[in-house]
Amino acid sequence: ETEAMKILFAASEAYPLVKTGGLGDVVHALPRALQQQGMDVRVILPAYRLILEQIASLRIAGWLQVQGAGRMHMIRILETDDHHLGVPLLLVDATDLFDRPGSPYLHPDGYNWHDNAERFTVFSRAVAQLASSGDILDWKPDVVHGHDWQTGLLPAFLKLIPEAPTSVYTIHNLSYSGVFSHEEFTHLQLPSEWWSADATEFFGNFSMLKAGIVFSDKITTVSPTYAEEIQTPGFGYGFDGVLRSNHHKLKGILNGIDQDIWNPATNSYLPVHYSLKHRYLAGKRSNKQALLEQLGLFLQDDQLDTPLLGFIGRLVEQKGVDLLLQIIPSILDNHDARIVILGSGEKHYESALREMAALYPQRLLLTLGYSEELAHRIEAGSDVFLMPSRFEPCGLNQMYSLRYGTPPLIHHVGGLADTVVDATQENLENGTATGFVFHEPSAASMLHAVERALKLYQNTAEWHKLIRTAMAQDFGWTKSASEYIQLYSEIT
Ligand code: ADP
Ligand code: GLC
Repeated sequence: ETEAMKILFAASEAYPLVKTGGLGDVVHALPRALQQQGMDVRVILPAYRLILEQIASLRIAGWLQVQGAGRMHMIRILETDDHHLGVPLLLVDATDLFDRPGSPYLHPDGYNWHDNAERFTVFSRAVAQLASSGDILDWKPDVVHGHDWQTGLLPAFLKLIPEAPTSVYTIHNLSYSGVFSHEEFTHLQLPSEWWSADATEFFGNFSMLKAGIVFSDKITTVSPTYAEEIQTPGFGYGFDGVLRSNHHKLKGILNGIDQDIWNPATNSYLPVHYSLKHRYLAGKRSNKQALLEQLGLFLQDDQLDTPLLGFIGRLVEQKGVDLLLQIIPSILDNHDARIVILGSGEKHYESALREMAALYPQRLLLTLGYSEELAHRIEAGSDVFLMPSRFEPCGLNQMYSLRYGTPPLIHHVGGLADTVVDATQENLENGTATGFVFHEPSAASMLHAVERALKLYQNTAEWHKLIRTAMAQDFGWTKSASEYIQLYSEIT
């Protein structure tokens, strides 16, 4: 029997311990899927206070001396018996940097920690040192797999160490690129030869994400369409050139979803369970009723026919919140419909939504904040799920909504384009339609799709068929995990 390939995942978040978006979901689900296919996978995260508070037993596996910003850090590598992830979890414990309240990236007042450059440089350096020696863990990975800008320097540090493992670097979102000044570059004592356009230099600053692109052995991103888009100026955020010159090692692999967690037949947040085989219409209707009651609307049964449009997401430009805001009056003034929104993010979006909700009491139901429970209930209780993202590397919510029988309405970009089939006449007839697609990032284009959806909703037979096709889609991790395994095997 051949020995299992050893993979070390390094990231800044992992559900359910710490999650701010889809990255957390992926770092939870992909390692398990790889493990199920025979890989020996471990995950390493920074030892944020939030994580330490959730973990019962910790062992100190060893110490590392790691260069920070003009100072050395004594780092502890912690091993845990924690089962939250379903694969072994390791932590980089640098008390000065990570033992702080709240979010992984932000001060409780909402701004970035002033020392994020140092925090994630130290994390990346520690992981590179740990992975290259194998002494501390008595385990040496064959491949180190880093995610997003927080681990961008990891492939670069690995290249400085003889006998280091190879690396895969996954871009989940190019618009967060870990850009810092020359002064920080110097303080962090990064090799001076990296200050070059061929390495990490980026328009007069340096970018950790660029380091990942340049120094990794393979780059992936989270959908095939986004892998193409980011090589163009419109989606490249200044990285399209370096991505084009590295396209030989770039591959788009679609994210999966965790079908055990996002399962309407078993999820414990849902007041009523349902599945394609069991009462999906009645089940969705009961969830809709319960959701509306939770939001303060107590309705007669026949009032439940009014279509409910759902939105969940970070309130940032990426998610097309402005498009949604522009068309809410047209939707609610001209149609019998309701809209339910859950999100948190930029203050100007929060206040614009609050003002809009005040104009449409009982019809625009707004919750500002973060709630896994409400997210599941909105996915289940809505009739249409809105995802008008201006760009979307992959997007998970549209796949969750398919699984929950809630046809998504999407802008044709990135992973959205790869996962939703438009309800055109032809696609409805041949039974492939799963949602609604619009092509221009404009209010008019989105509104047109919403009106198509509201019209089709009146056609009960067609609508039920759309729901059934949506629920029958399989976006589990099995296929994507084997694509990653193929990639790992090309560099070991
Ligand atoms: P992104 O990672 O860009 O935020 P994704 O669609 O990949 O977008 O993943 C978003 C994840 O975060 C989903 O699991 C979604 O349900 C969750 N999410 C986003 N905002 C909220 C919120 N306010 N409350 C609960 N879950 C949220
Ligand atoms: C990012 C992207 C999102 C993707 C997620 C997980 O946050 O914005 O599209 O689904 O990462 O890969």
